[in-house]
Amino acid sequence: MKAPIRVAVTGAAGNIGYALLWRIASGDCFGADQPVILQLLEIPPGMERLQGVVMELVDSAFDLVHGIVGTSDPAEAFKDADAIFLVGSRPRSAGMDRADLVAANGPIFVGQGKAINDNASRDVKVLVVGNPCNTNCLIAQRNAPDLDPSCFSAMTRLDQNRAAGQLALKAGVPVAKVRDVFVWGNHADTMYPDISEAKVDARPAGELYEDAWLKGEFKKVVSTRGKAIINARGASSAASAASAATDHMRDWWRGTDGRIVSMAIPSKGWYGVDEGLVFSFPCTVDGEGRAHVVADLELDDYAKAQIQINVDALAGERQAVSELL
Ligand code: NAD
Ligand code: LMR
Repeated sequence: MKAPIRVAVTGAAGNIGYALLWRIASGDCFGADQPVILQLLEIPPGMERLQGVVMELVDSAFDLVHGIVGTSDPAEAFKDADAIFLVGSRPRSAGMDRADLVAANGPIFVGQGKAINDNASRDVKVLVVGNPCNTNCLIAQRNAPDLDPSCFSAMTRLDQNRAAGQLALKAGVPVAKVRDVFVWGNHADTMYPDISEAKVDARPAGELYEDAWLKGEFKKVVSTRGKAIINARGASSAASAASAATDHMRDWWRGTDGRIVSMAIPSKGWYGVDEGLVFSFPCTVDGEGRAHVVADLELDDYAKAQIQINVDALAGERQAVSELL
């Protein structure tokens, strides 16, 4: 057995937290040989619910759980953390866009960014799930100036998984047969799911689907799935979000072995995306846990235009939160 790592989860008594903690505790994320100390953050009104979650984690008797801390103090939650899931924040309700949440949720990521800066491990991996996740990630990253920007990423893996699910359904194959589909841009209706590198049943996806479907129904279903789930369930996606967070952190922690995955990371100007914007790129992750943007993809005019729409949207969000950066 390895030495335990410290894993912080915010909003741990919420809906995503309730699904995510069991995936982490069972080894799905960091590996079956990697013990964890869970450091769970809630706001004071959530502390009683958090106590219940902690009781249930204890009652689940996970071999890999070597300690559980429940706290409303961000400094304690992030102390020496090796991996952090920033989930805690308000979900949108029907009729709202994710960007509408920034006024309520953005300030959370100022204080948490500072607390991460002051307390977490210097090579921590911070995954922002709370919406609007790209811009909340930007806020947290900019409030943690002592950490390398590559410590931060936001979650577009749910969008990638949704895209893979739709490609599999359309082709009538299990989703395991789909690889290397990814999403560019913002976790918003503007996102661009790209199949140019994707393979389905080992065949290039471009041979299997009509352009009109890819640019029409496919893009619409993937990019508006969050809204469709809220309308159907009366609540925001939770189990699939926790699953995507597990996938994202697992691949970031353990590497992708050449597979392409979607990670929203601070841009270094790749593909003309403004430096600093937290933008979803096609990435691979090496065995040391370093993400690399897949270079030299050929983009047609449609792809370039889709990417630019997302750059403009995220630059607008960045401008709207400039006082938090
Ligand atoms: P939820 O309301 O069920 O739970 C949120 C929890 O966060 C609550 O228990 C609340 O008390 C806690 N919280 C609020 N402010 C906090 C703070 N400052 N510090 C710590 N905890 C805090 O919501 P949920 O369904 O778990 O969703 C959480 C967030 O994840 C929402 O913003 C939602 O929109 C977002 N989300 C993102 C994706 C994605 O793909 N990026 C997918 C699904 C949901
Ligand atoms: C999702 O994509 O399901 C989440 O971001 C929740 C939402 O508000 O759509």
